Amino acid sequence: STVSCADIITLATRDAVVLAEGPSYKSPTGQRDGVVSNPNEVNLPGPSFSVSQALQAFTAKGMTLNDMVTLLGAHTVGVAHCSFFDDRLSNFQGTGSPDPSMDPALVTKLKNMCAGPNDPTAFLDQKTSFAFDNEYYNQVNLKRGVMQIDQELSLDKSTAGIVSGFASNGGRFSQSFATAMLKMGSLQDGNAGEIRKNCRVFN
Ligand code: HEM
Repeated sequence: STVSCADIITLATRDAVVLAEGPSYKSPTGQRDGVVSNPNEVNLPGPSFSVSQALQAFTAKGMTLNDMVTLLGAHTVGVAHCSFFDDRLSNFQGTGSPDPSMDPALVTKLKNMCAGPNDPTAFLDQKTSFAFDNEYYNQVNLKRGVMQIDQELSLDKSTAGIVSGFASNGGRFSQSFATAMLKMGSLQDGNAGEIRKNCRVFN
């Protein structure tokens, strides 16, 4: 009853980042687990949010614009299901055409992939999909962001400069990522919660 399930996930994330050759950082422990697990109460930003809508979700938790652009850099690994971005591939916002901010070659590739059954997935970083690096930022600058929120980061005036900074300086991204992960990992609701005995259920 000392190490929480939240701590275990935080530590596993830290190790996953290192295994993908990303930055190493010292994760704090001491987070408590929630006493409610209700999907109806989950309130996350969506993949088609604008930068300012997404920012509201982050600032509500005390995170900054720089933190948000940094943490979205985690989309340098992993996948998204087509249902989270296929609105961009045809008839985008009722225009009858794909999202003009997506490279037409990527539109074609993703359309083919997404034609398969059971909601297929696509790599979020189309170039170095398995490496935790700063390539995500280069890709969005090349109009090769998969989800709308990813692409918006390179288009919105408030974030374009941060994106270019990380695209040209991997070391700066690594440092910023470590700092932002530590900050996100220490958001705490006082002494609320508990240390679960079984991670699947509250005590
Ligand atoms: C505005 C904020 C964010 C939005 C809208 C967003 C949205 C999404 C969506 C829709 C997916 C695809 C899920 C699926 O198809 O199963 C995804 C995947 C992912 N996200 Fe985010 N995300 C956000 C922020 C973050 C942050 C802060 C992190 C971590 C620091 C993160 C890390 C990841 C990773 C690693 C994946 C790949 C998961 C996998 O391969 O299964 N995202 N995100």
